[in-house]
Amino acid sequence: MNLPTRLALAAAIVGTFAAGIAFLSGCNVPARAESSQRWESARQCQSCHPEAFAEWQTSHHGIAFTNPEVRALSDDFRREECMDCHLPRPLAVTGFGKRTLPRRTHFDEGVSCISCHLGEDGGIVARNNRPEVPCKPKRSEAFLSVDACMSCHNQHQTTDQWRASHYAAQGIHCTNCHMPEADRKRPDGTIRKGRSHIYPGAHDKSMLAKAATFTAERQGNELVLALENTGAGHNFPTEERHRAVDLEYQFEDTTGPIAGLGTGGAPEWSRAWRFRQPYRDEPGENTQLPAGKKHEVRVAAPAGATAVTVRMWYRLTPMCNDLDPRSTLLEERKLEWQ
Ligand code: HEC
Ligand code: HEC
Ligand code: HEC
Ligand code: HEC
Ligand code: HEC
Repeated sequence: MNLPTRLALAAAIVGTFAAGIAFLSGCNVPARAESSQRWESARQCQSCHPEAFAEWQTSHHGIAFTNPEVRALSDDFRREECMDCHLPRPLAVTGFGKRTLPRRTHFDEGVSCISCHLGEDGGIVARNNRPEVPCKPKRSEAFLSVDACMSCHNQHQTTDQWRASHYAAQGIHCTNCHMPEADRKRPDGTIRKGRSHIYPGAHDKSMLAKAATFTAERQGNELVLALENTGAGHNFPTEERHRAVDLEYQFEDTTGPIAGLGTGGAPEWSRAWRFRQPYRDEPGENTQLPAGKKHEVRVAAPAGATAVTVRMWYRLTPMCNDLDPRSTLLEERKLEWQ
């Protein structure tokens, strides 16, 4: 039996078993949390925290072990080292800030509530001490610190990049940007403010649009393109080495587009600059744009130019062109050139 089959079988057995127990004990939702409660699955939190559960379930944390992209690249997790962060044991077990270790349970839960919220004593860690609440959350500084994200998010120096930025100096944490306020309905129907568990990043266009400010202007016979990282708390793009941000241009004359370098995915498009951290075995420097920094590129206009169109792209992988759904057009602008 291969690994995925074994995992699916194990999940099915566990599922049937749990359903049997729930049936025998006549257990109903909402669940009752005992002080001796053993927390082991996100499903235990679902009935009392439906919004956080729904946000998490389809987030990249929720899909970390089922994500087809990850399955393909990890050879269906036959590369077991990939489980360390995609199917992790609770942070409290391995230590906040330390590299996580893989678990062998709850295969459909990826980075789950338990991974982040389980405390060393088996209770729930949170912002506030709430002994009166059924799950009895306890405040934990380690849980609230950036170290809690670092355990998994420093493989490509995202946390180090944040530490070097003005955000760290100002105390603006990862969660200030990645966990905005969200409404939670109390059982009596009133609304309180919680924190979103969607964790927007590279798959969210509105998050990408917040990262940087793009400008294009004419100076004499030169087109000046500039990008300033005004909204990402780390390099842009960050994390995975296959993320890329491209600045492209296309000049035209009275007859239409002028042939360009062809580096922008079509003959008339040219790439002015690519922001990216190359793979280890690839030549070239890290051109990611650090928080607060600006990068400028100058291009000489060809003779007879009457206009130029400029574009800023975000690519989930550098191998895809403009037509690929993994490319997101963040900006397009046209400048007259007469
Ligand atoms: C039986 C219901 C129940 C279950 C089950 C439950 N909780 Fe809670 N939890 C609550 C209630 C009620 C609150 C208080 C909400 C409010 O602020 O009004 C709360 C609050 C919290 C808080 C916020 C504490 C703070 O800082 O103010 C966290 C974090 C939390 N729960 C996590 C979890 C996790 C993770 C699970 C599953 C492992 C879980 N809870 C299971 C009822 C439950
Ligand atoms: C040290 C922790 C860690 C380990 C080990 C790890 N990953 Fe990841 N992986 C992450 C984090 C954090 C992200 C999210 C960052 C991002 O999307 O750029 C991620 C994202 C990904 C993505 C992007 C998913 C998407 O939908 O875009 C792929 C693919 C991936 N990992 C594959 C792998 C493979 C294959 C391995 C094993 C060779 C592996 N990972 C090992 C932490 C890890
Ligand atoms: C136990 C490991 C782990 C911890 C702890 C963790 N993450 Fe993640 N995170 C991941 C993995 C793995 C992924 C990517 C999963 C995938 O795409 O398959 C991810 C994805 C993300 C993404 C979405 C990336 C995308 O491509 O859309 C963001 C944003 C993010 N994490 C932020 C955070 C923040 C902020 C914290 C700290 C509060 C944190 N994470 C804690 C492992 C972790
Ligand atoms: C990647 C780590 C991570 C995962 C996974 C995660 N949480 Fe959280 N959660 C946090 C952090 C960090 C905070 C505190 C944010 C703050 O107050 O600064 C938080 C806050 C909360 C709160 C209080 C705010 C609110 O919205 O009511 C609840 C309740 C909660 N989480 C429940 C859950 C549940 C249920 C799950 C799983 C479905 C879950 N969390 C998954 C990191 C995580
Ligand atoms: C000032 C706001 C801000 C802060 C602070 C911040 N981020 Fe981000 N983050 C962004 C924006 C905007 C993006 C989208 C652009 C990008 O990918 O760089 C992003 C993207 C990401 C991604 C997606 C990368 C990918 O390839 O999918 C991850 C993961 C992430 N951040 C993790 C973190 C972690 C961990 C911290 C804390 C150490 C943090 N962020 C601090 C704004 C912020």
